[in-house]
Amino acid sequence: MQSSRVDLDHTRLTTQQGVRVDHTDDSLTITERGPTLLEDFHAREKITHFDHERIPERVVHARGAGAYGHFQAYEGWLRDYTVAEFLTSGEQIPVFVRFSTVAGSRGSADTVRDVRGFATKFFTRQGNYDLVGNNMPVFFIQDGIKFPDFVHAVKPEPDNEIPQAASAHDTLWDFVSLQPETLHMMMWLMSDRALPRSYRMMQGFGVHTFRLVNADGQGTFVKFHWKPVLGTHSLVWDECQKIAGKDPDYNRRDLWDCIEAGQFPEWELGVQLVDEKDEFSFDFDLLDPTKIIPEEQVPVRPVGRMVLDRNPDNFFAETEQVAFHTANVVPGIDFTNDPLLQARNFSYLDTQLIRLGGPNFAQLPVNRPIADVHTNQRDGYGQQAVHKGRTSYFKNSISGGCPAIADSGTFSHYTEHVEGHKIRKRSESFKDFYSQATLFWNSMSEVEREHIVSAFRFELGKVTSKEIRGRVVAELNNVDHELAVRVSEGVGVTAPAEEVRPNHGRSSPALSQLNAPSNR
Ligand code: HEM
Repeated sequence: MQSSRVDLDHTRLTTQQGVRVDHTDDSLTITERGPTLLEDFHAREKITHFDHERIPERVVHARGAGAYGHFQAYEGWLRDYTVAEFLTSGEQIPVFVRFSTVAGSRGSADTVRDVRGFATKFFTRQGNYDLVGNNMPVFFIQDGIKFPDFVHAVKPEPDNEIPQAASAHDTLWDFVSLQPETLHMMMWLMSDRALPRSYRMMQGFGVHTFRLVNADGQGTFVKFHWKPVLGTHSLVWDECQKIAGKDPDYNRRDLWDCIEAGQFPEWELGVQLVDEKDEFSFDFDLLDPTKIIPEEQVPVRPVGRMVLDRNPDNFFAETEQVAFHTANVVPGIDFTNDPLLQARNFSYLDTQLIRLGGPNFAQLPVNRPIADVHTNQRDGYGQQAVHKGRTSYFKNSISGGCPAIADSGTFSHYTEHVEGHKIRKRSESFKDFYSQATLFWNSMSEVEREHIVSAFRFELGKVTSKEIRGRVVAELNNVDHELAVRVSEGVGVTAPAEEVRPNHGRSSPALSQLNAPSNR
């Protein structure tokens, strides 16, 4: 059998069947100027394979760059909180990371105003764990059921596929003006965070509140953070626009070149931990992915270090075919009921079934766990494994009885008590859309504020509908009056007269009450 990695060998050429070919420039024809023969299996195979080279690009995050490396936990202090060995053992484990833009197509420019994906696959001894995050700590929407609407608003319009620039777009701003939960994330998107200078200088966030689970089955809420050792740095908008023309591969090339030159990028993984008993002690809902946990309230504690030190051999095989999935968790890490996360747990596997052509993409080299894999799944498109034996079901008494399920090292779902009515209604505790957008604005220096105002003016200013521009400015007035006035002056709408948000500048006093279990 051939191994997965194939070295270049231009001294010989064969068909897929290994038959050596003497000539690949001329088709088999009758006479030098005659018709081509169907019998030319080499020509048919060569063209057919070429015809099938393309697979669908990712429905979002289509453009990306990846690299291999390793992760190592510093020490075992997290052992009290989780049985995830890679977070506690101090052993070096392999990782593959893919950075991406979100809205653009596979061939789009790197330096656009956009969120960046930061997805990490940890190849742990307990199985693959994927931390599928972004370079911003919050998200546009609170519930994944809105994701198709949001992405349809961000992507080019369906009639003419214009505009390519997602942030300067009637439909995006229409969506934003009608869905105020987007505002906190829109503040991040209009800030310099949306213009990273380098993937090596970007923070990463798991965004959702996840759960760590220890050996006693006890849960602790957790938010994951990546901090780049080089610090967080951005381009300015003028640079971005010029670079997009001169070197659309700017971020991708930077990552590749630095790794080739031995300047390996590094990040520290950190966690914010919240005891379960403190679930309702915040003035926002921990399950709401449009909220951060302020670091002043819960500090980020360092857990380990990741270094990226090897470029892929083949972009398609590795960076394109890698399949991240929020539901790829290992013992000791579990979900919460964050409705955005729950939808993601459905969406990734579903999309990869079509993007990667069937149910066996976990066998692709870049996705293969280092942990042993034993399933009773069989057959299907792209099956690579040759499963031996007579049985592929459990329990069975024919092939050696029923192996006992090990009582340690297995994944057992966190035991959460849930009861209540089946309803289609978001909790009131998700309804403060403005406080953290204001917090973000208030934390900015004057230079950063100028950049944010200019970004709003540039992007929103391109929106053709004055009504939409007016609605967005009215929403910004709920974030900060000065911000709304400054933006309005650049986008041709009347400045709002005064602040409209009754609880401006402070969070709603009712929220911790609303968060009480009886109200949820
Ligand atoms: C892809 C992050 C929300 C569906 C990605 C990727 C990242 C990411 C980093 C690229 C993975 C790669 O490099 O291959 C996030 C974050 C979210 C979020 C941080 C919110 C906190 C959602 C939601 C959905 C969704 C709500 C759907 C309900 C998808 C899909 C892909 C994707 C379908 C393409 C996956 C593939 O083709 O392999 N996301 N996403 N995402 N995301 Fe999300």
